Amino acid sequence: MEEHIYKKIFSKYRGSKRDSLIPLLQEIQHELGFLSKDSVARVGGLLNLPTSKIYGVATFYNQFRFQPYGKYHIQVCRGTACHVKGSANVLSALEAMLNIKAGETTRDGMFSIEVVACIGACGLAPVISINGEFHANLVPSDIEKIIGSYKNRKTLEE
Ligand code: FES
Repeated sequence: MEEHIYKKIFSKYRGSKRDSLIPLLQEIQHELGFLSKDSVARVGGLLNLPTSKIYGVATFYNQFRFQPYGKYHIQVCRGTACHVKGSANVLSALEAMLNIKAGETTRDGMFSIEVVACIGACGLAPVISINGEFHANLVPSDIEKIIGSYKNRKTLEE
């Protein structure tokens, strides 16, 4: 399946130069969810760029991720309303509890964090969404309970 996706995307960029790098990476991430080592190597081959250069450019833009989403993908809203109501502290609490930074996935593949712009629920600020379920009016001390409830779901499913 991935082969098919690369073929489809790369056919549009044949003969392209390095100014196509960002849109090309965006398309791959859109289709595959993240940029794997294999993706980066393939893009390097197509655009004739060293992979180190590609990582250098891609990490500059924090829209790219290099790990797949976790089983539970947490979107932390950093829009204005959420910012004013303390979303930075909520994000810090999540990062500390899961021991990852925004854009990363826990080693067990359970949780990933992504910072997003307004998710359209400003009246509930600050808000996070976990696999589409909203958690509203958060304070940092709520995080432990929320993450614990998802960990319990995992245990129940096993
Ligand atoms: S700013 Fe967070 S939902 Fe709008």
